[in-house]
Amino acid sequence: MGRTIAVVGASLAGWSACVTLRSGGFDGRLVLIGDEPHRPYDRPPLSKSFLAGAVGADVLPLATREQFAEVGPDWRLGRRATSLDTARLDATTVTLDDGERIEADVVLIATGTRPRTLPGQPQATGLHTLRTLDDALALKPELAEGKRLVVVGGGFIGAEVAATGRELGCEVAVVEAQPLPLADLFGERMAETVSGLHEAHGSSLYLGVAVHEVLVSGGRVRGVRLGDGRELPADVVVVGIGVTPNTEWLRGSQVALDGGVLVDAYGATSVPGVYAAGDVVRFPSGRAGAHVRIEHWTHARDHGAAVARAILGVGEPYDPLPYVWSEQYGTMLQFAGYPAADATVALVEGDLAERRFVAEYLRDGRRVAVLGMRSPRTFTRIRKELSRA
Ligand code: NAI
Repeated sequence: MGRTIAVVGASLAGWSACVTLRSGGFDGRLVLIGDEPHRPYDRPPLSKSFLAGAVGADVLPLATREQFAEVGPDWRLGRRATSLDTARLDATTVTLDDGERIEADVVLIATGTRPRTLPGQPQATGLHTLRTLDDALALKPELAEGKRLVVVGGGFIGAEVAATGRELGCEVAVVEAQPLPLADLFGERMAETVSGLHEAHGSSLYLGVAVHEVLVSGGRVRGVRLGDGRELPADVVVVGIGVTPNTEWLRGSQVALDGGVLVDAYGATSVPGVYAAGDVVRFPSGRAGAHVRIEHWTHARDHGAAVARAILGVGEPYDPLPYVWSEQYGTMLQFAGYPAADATVALVEGDLAERRFVAEYLRDGRRVAVLGMRSPRTFTRIRKELSRA
């Protein structure tokens, strides 16, 4: 076992790895590097309860002060890793933006992803992306009663921010480039049911049309122009059009990259002693029959822990059933499985029109995924059965 482990990325996957390394008996030097100034915190509330003002920042940290002290990493916060030197056989060196060089026996890459931006997206007051606590702190005061909010992208971020905007009394328009948001994941019929929440709660939905340009005047956003020439006025614009893996800092290293950091079923990269976990990686999934990159919270937590166990020498192949939940307009939505747009959908219980139901997805007669709306009990039972399959 190495004496120094450097974990690059201080969010859920990185922190989960640190906790597991310590609980698994690693008592050497643990260096935790994160480019945000904050200790590891939870992101799901940032688009929901925290943005709505229902909870404060005090609920966000992933551990108590005592737990942080118990794990006791050597913190490097507000510092960005700029390169990884993998040329030496006996150690790997992480270089930080202030020039510090950290030599480690094992490096775990958990640098995650960052929001994509629109081509030529300008800098303007009132124009936001949402991923970090600082992003949420900047957006929060803008979502006041009567403000016109345009959300670009009807995926998870878009839907949750739109719902929170409505809750706070904003006039909300969601612009989605695809004919239906989330149809690749849920299939058309179910995506229609889910996205129906927007109009049911007074948000306008513009489908099958992309945002062409963000309109700015005097340094402040004033609206967006759509691909078909229409203009939507806005006081606030939030862009939620997906994410990009943070791998640029690895370019000069020998770590294999292909749409993320490529790892094996144990989180090992192409370089001995270098591992990776969380939404920055693509790993081989037997369930999916492909290398996949998963962006969900549960994956970050579980993969960080799984790869830490592999580093400790007690790893097992990682191939979970992906699970995501979302809360939109007070409605709990849960999905487990890989994208299932091509599968047959069968209602297990409830009623689509009431938006309270559980539906299974079948491929060649086999259950492959499950979707639930406001029906956590049955959903959880089927999710467990599917996980074991
Ligand atoms: P996403 O991939 O879920 O959705 C992006 C959406 O933007 C897609 O529907 C896409 O068709 C649309 N789009 C792309 N370009 C566009 C354009 N030019 N104009 C209009 N629409 C366009 O990504 P999203 O929502 O940005 O979320 C980012 C990450 O955060 C994802 O990894 C997501 O899973 C995660 N997240 C998860 C949540 C949850 O689990 N409940 C909540 C919020 C975010």
